[in-house]
Amino acid sequence: MIAEVNHERIPNNVHLSSDKRLQRALEGWQPNFASWWGDMGPEGFQQKEIYLRTAIGVDANGWAQFDYVKMPDYRWGIFLAAPTENRTIPGGDLAGKPVWQEIPGEHRNSLRRLIVTQADTEPASVEQQRLLGKTCPSLYDLRNLFQVNVEEGRHLWAMVYLLHSYLGKDGREEADALLERRSGNPDKPRILTTFNEPISDWLSFFMFTTFTDRDGKFQLLSLAESGFDPLSRTCRFMLTEEAHHLFVGQTGVQRVIKRTAELINRYDTEDIAKYGGVPLVILQKYINFWYSSSLDLFGSEQSSNAANYFAAGLKGRAHEAKHYTEHMANQDTYALTTLQNGKLGELAVPLRNAMNEVLRDDYIADNEKSLEKWNLELAKHHIDYKLALPSKRFNRTVGIYSEHHYGPDGMPLSRAEFEAQRSFWLPTREDREHVHSLMQQVVARGKMAGWIAPPLKGINALPEDFEYVRL
Ligand SMILES: [Fe+2]
Ligand SMILES: [Fe+2]
Repeated sequence: MIAEVNHERIPNNVHLSSDKRLQRALEGWQPNFASWWGDMGPEGFQQKEIYLRTAIGVDANGWAQFDYVKMPDYRWGIFLAAPTENRTIPGGDLAGKPVWQEIPGEHRNSLRRLIVTQADTEPASVEQQRLLGKTCPSLYDLRNLFQVNVEEGRHLWAMVYLLHSYLGKDGREEADALLERRSGNPDKPRILTTFNEPISDWLSFFMFTTFTDRDGKFQLLSLAESGFDPLSRTCRFMLTEEAHHLFVGQTGVQRVIKRTAELINRYDTEDIAKYGGVPLVILQKYINFWYSSSLDLFGSEQSSNAANYFAAGLKGRAHEAKHYTEHMANQDTYALTTLQNGKLGELAVPLRNAMNEVLRDDYIADNEKSLEKWNLELAKHHIDYKLALPSKRFNRTVGIYSEHHYGPDGMPLSRAEFEAQRSFWLPTREDREHVHSLMQQVVARGKMAGWIAPPLKGINALPEDFEYVRL
């Protein structure tokens, strides 16, 4: 089975060769994807051999084939997780009814919008990260960057397959448009703000893969509970790749913290910028920035769209089928913290209208686990400092909390009070300049930049000084 899959032009487990029309359509889109990758993919390394993992099937052996490959020759494929027998719609008004193998006419527009919004983030992140190779801290990190990049490329393929396969002419037009928008371009920006923020240093990259890829994880978890079964199966397989992106982020930040802690102890001061490290206060500010920006991606606290998606069975809560016993969610309320007359209070809102907030809360809890690991690293080095997630009200640009200013502790502030303290809470130009000054390319085998500790182990059980990229 794997061998057969492996020899097709577009590796897949969806019997593409038995649907000639679809196969031709996707083979028509393929050269446009290749030319987008050439223009907007990682700059300067397209002809280098990278030790990459390629998915060629969804079973335990098939999805983790490691070998040297030049990125333009990477075999981006279409893979859906194996179908669940007799799967039923997990949540909403139709909970318990059989799932759909085609898109019901009345849900065409909504599903198109959900798929396009998810799809747009995939090429966007590749564009955001395209210059990072020039300042990589090691070959190990360079390889991880490219692994993330090619997998985001594959995620684009996964979504484009759904568009081409299930949404006809509209879907094909959307697939073309996905290659036309550009991250950060004011004339044709990517759909969501966070995906237009530049990622020009590796600390931002590690924060992005911790916080923004984790948004991706939760959007995928929610779409994995869709009644539209091909979408659910697509997202379930994407989640296996997303886990690696989160690993890159979580361990990347942790390695920076480790080096910071070592420098603090060696020089007996927290002011370690002059010794080539990232001070804890700057780390906290980067956390504040990327975390608050990623919180925005979940949308408004109260949303009739979110309620409709849930009611119709297009999306579910994370792990809807597994973690909940009551799947209608039409009796309960959600206690939403709001600001009334300058005071914080609670407002009971219908649970279905608060589905964005429910997902955001799950996302926050998952982030706390990363913070615990990071703080454990500090504790191990006997450093009395705790990194923390700011309140979800802090520095928001979407939703009710964007209408007022709040400190990292979540307490309301006037604009003047916020602005007076902004430089203590969010990266300043000087902070960014310091981080940028550390970004010097290190590509000698087994060598590591001074601002970050080496990883605990290499990729695929290989040594840390393996030649992950052949330059
Ligand atoms: Fe992705
Ligand atoms: Fe990702």
